[in-house]
Amino acid sequence: MSSNIKDKQPTVLIFDSGVGGLSVYDEIRLLMPNLHYIYVFDNQGFPYGDKSEAVIIERVTQVISHVQSAHSIDIAVIACNTASTICLPALRNQFAFPIVGVVPAIKPAAKISRNKLIGLLATKATIKRAYTSRLVEEFAQDCHVQMLGLSELAIIAENKLHGQPVDMTQLSQLMAPWLNLAKPLDTIVLGCTHYPFIQDELQLLFPQVNFVDSGYAIASRVQSLLNYQINNSVVSQQNSQNQVMSTRFDHDVAALMSTLSGYNLTNYCTIPLDVV
Ligand code: DGL
Repeated sequence: MSSNIKDKQPTVLIFDSGVGGLSVYDEIRLLMPNLHYIYVFDNQGFPYGDKSEAVIIERVTQVISHVQSAHSIDIAVIACNTASTICLPALRNQFAFPIVGVVPAIKPAAKISRNKLIGLLATKATIKRAYTSRLVEEFAQDCHVQMLGLSELAIIAENKLHGQPVDMTQLSQLMAPWLNLAKPLDTIVLGCTHYPFIQDELQLLFPQVNFVDSGYAIASRVQSLLNYQINNSVVSQQNSQNQVMSTRFDHDVAALMSTLSGYNLTNYCTIPLDVV
């Protein structure tokens, strides 16, 4: 990171496979509204939940290299649990700027749970990762953690942001394993950045449960890494337009534009990748 970071408007790259990273971007923007943001999503590779580790590492590395070739990046946020639990060492090896990852909020969940019965809801890939088992061993030893890996939930959340209502019958079928437990969970970790977008619907199925995600913790981490003192008078003079990029332009992306402009992401371009 440059030493004169406070003299310019820092550029923050936020990456996800789809729109889930917007839940993290929202938290970061709430703390630091006047940074220059580049939101990048690999919609050509979505969903990541069923992809191999090698493919995910290759895709994320290519996307970030591509953005770096055109922009000076002060910090990158991998706003995707599925990618973070596997890519961070490779990315930190390759890029000089700080890289913040998102991992399931097991630690705060273990702290707030009263009955010590926690659910971790994530993609199948995140559930399988050694990183996730280590989080549970390290931070939730006194809890019983049930894990549910689903491919469909990220797609349901993605579709919701594209304007499709959530099918509650489908959602309750997917959540059936946790609906009639003899000892109900009191805390559920939303271990995928897409899930905060369907938290209201999940709350209808689990009215007594506390849901925990990593968004605010990531925003605080970004703020402390940037060592950023909010100074609107300095940054407002140099306000660069935020940007949004994806790996494929299609009808869905065109339809998403009005949602993205609600996030102050209006300047769009496509990043062509040469991986399968
Ligand atoms: N948003 C991503 C995560 O946090 C994954 C969605 C997907 O591509 O399956 O895990």
